[in-house]
Amino acid sequence: MGSASIVVLGTGGTIAGTGASATSPLDYRAGVLPVTQLLSSIPSVAGLPVHAEQLAQIDSKDMSPAVWHRLATRCAALLAQPQVRGIVVTHGTDTVEETAFLLHQVLAADKPVVLTCAMRPATDLGSDGPQNLADAIAVANTPGAAGVLLVCAGRIHDPVQVSKVHPYRLDAFDAGDAGPVGFVEDGRVRLARPWRSAGAGGCRLAALPEVAQWPWVEILASHAGARGTAVQLLCAAGVAGIVVAGTGNGSLHAELEAALLQAQARGIRVVRASRCAAGRVLPGAADRLPASPLSPVKARIALQLELLAAGGATPAA
Ligand code: SIN
Repeated sequence: MGSASIVVLGTGGTIAGTGASATSPLDYRAGVLPVTQLLSSIPSVAGLPVHAEQLAQIDSKDMSPAVWHRLATRCAALLAQPQVRGIVVTHGTDTVEETAFLLHQVLAADKPVVLTCAMRPATDLGSDGPQNLADAIAVANTPGAAGVLLVCAGRIHDPVQVSKVHPYRLDAFDAGDAGPVGFVEDGRVRLARPWRSAGAGGCRLAALPEVAQWPWVEILASHAGARGTAVQLLCAAGVAGIVVAGTGNGSLHAELEAALLQAQARGIRVVRASRCAAGRVLPGAADRLPASPLSPVKARIALQLELLAAGGATPAA
């Protein structure tokens, strides 16, 4: 690697997907094309020192602790290299908000780590991957940019607030009340608010432990007719933590709550989040189960990392 460069790490996803035809956007396989090929279709890369590495090649619905470990470890090593200006990660849309949040939690990212994705495969007539990748590289190349970010459909999102909110629309991500961090317009970044300060993610772990040590944390939802049986089965199977996606402000069906309180009394960590797409659970003085302001999938990662940092976690099943 020569002078200041951007490293693009490929992990798969629809951005690297190929379809049966250019007009069948649902009939395709994710994670097929190498990241070098994705880069070759972007004119703005010409002249920029960009290096590509294929870190994984998966449909992100199958994201695993092993890939997360590899990705976080590689990002940490690259961030430590003075000649690396920033990192771009190509990823599937389905779990990109989880990967972004995990990286935000574990990396001291004083440089940009920009995740990007696509809602249409690379072979589709309306493929959005090349523009998203070009925008992500533009963000990674922007002086002053720092922290983990998600770039999609011309918007730059914060890893804590962003969620996938639509299964088909090109602009599939939203950060709720917070709105986007900024926009990429004709290759230029326009900020709506300042970049996060370096290392804002928490950096709880000096090095991410091997995946065999990652505790098992599950997500349950409260809903009409919810029962406590699922909690009892999880406890019997050795779960270390449960995040429950509650209704509204994290409220729970009485039967589910009773089982969760029993689990908590037995030492299982239980955290309440909300099923609502926007907003956050507001904790109350009478809460018997702690609340998280995060979405259920991010509260799960936060609890997993908390248990890992505490060191007393049950190994993953
Ligand atoms: C995936 O998440 O890998 C497939 C779906 C997508 O990228 O849109």
